[in-house]
Amino acid sequence: MDFSKILISLKDKHLYRSRKITESAQGTQIVIDGHSLINFCSNDYLSLANHVQVKEAFKQGVDEYGVGSGASHLVSGHSRAHHELEKALAQYTGQQRALLYSTGYSANLGVFSALKGELDWVLQDKLNHASLIDANQLIGLPLQRYLHNDITSLEKKLDKQAGQGMIVTDTVFSMDGDSAKLDDLQKIANFSNAVLMQDDAHGFGVFESNIPKNSIYMATLGKAAGTMGAFVAGKADFIEFLIQKSRPYIYTTAISPAICVATLKSLELIKQGEQKAKLLAHIDFFRNFSQAIGLPISASKSAIQPLIIGDSEKALKISQKLFEQGFYVSAIRPPTVPKGTERLRITLNANHTQSQIEQLLVHIKNAL
Ligand SMILES: Cc1ncc(COP(=O)(O)O)c(C=O)c1O
Repeated sequence: MDFSKILISLKDKHLYRSRKITESAQGTQIVIDGHSLINFCSNDYLSLANHVQVKEAFKQGVDEYGVGSGASHLVSGHSRAHHELEKALAQYTGQQRALLYSTGYSANLGVFSALKGELDWVLQDKLNHASLIDANQLIGLPLQRYLHNDITSLEKKLDKQAGQGMIVTDTVFSMDGDSAKLDDLQKIANFSNAVLMQDDAHGFGVFESNIPKNSIYMATLGKAAGTMGAFVAGKADFIEFLIQKSRPYIYTTAISPAICVATLKSLELIKQGEQKAKLLAHIDFFRNFSQAIGLPISASKSAIQPLIIGDSEKALKISQKLFEQGFYVSAIRPPTVPKGTERLRITLNANHTQSQIEQLLVHIKNAL
């Protein structure tokens, strides 16, 4: 195994990934490697990660429960705070029950692993998140993908399936920001002996959840909710089934109870709607201003606004130039997105100002 050779090859193809060190709290203003920047690559869509009330709740959680949960949920790690959060998430999403996972990645693996013996086929949108693809591979069923958001392509693939199936989609697509056609997908699931599963990591807290009857809903708490973890919501018997059968749920330490206390506060702020209203206004402004200065906007109406560059080296160069000008915007390259669709992935947060958004777009226009 020649790791150095592999690393050199990644560098040659402009696909080498490196980490930058954040030296401040998460927010619209961030300090990276000593540079103060306006942050346009955080999933903290509602600016709750450093919200004063969420931090206060977290501290109270630490005072009450300490720092670590100490064990998995099925041993002694399932605290009152975890339980209350599950109840609040079930109520918020209008489902009978919710189940907390430590991350969205493990929640997706968790749903698939529990359903391993129940499914004969799975069909996924071509642009679904990597964790859904990995989960599919984990249970040994062939990875079958329909064209992105293309109902005709899904229907064609359905003809070849037999037995119990699952149709799986991101709700808001993580790199494109557009939304799945949930009502169409549910209709298809209804007449094809399939269950619909949606991953609402990027919609939860920003948009009203649309959860069709008898479908599976997963959302994460490390993005709009500003904390960490994830949950699956649905019918009581399905959640109980996950507790019995979902290995990534059973064999892992529960997240910190203090995080659950903080997330309960986030949920209150989400329900109040003030941060959400600011974010939605920014999304509108971003789209209108981009259009006015002739930047190509995508179909996305979410906080994720991609700008396709089409080349890894060029995307990196623009991202670097913006960095030098005080803006933090990530360049997204293969394998995260298909070759030829390399892009800048701009994410908007509630606490951005219109002036920051305007400045960013003017700098991008000049860099192009
Ligand atoms: C669509 C989607 N699903 C799942 C995940 C994984 O969630 P987590 O970061 O909580 O593991 C992410 C992002 O990280 C995501 O974008």
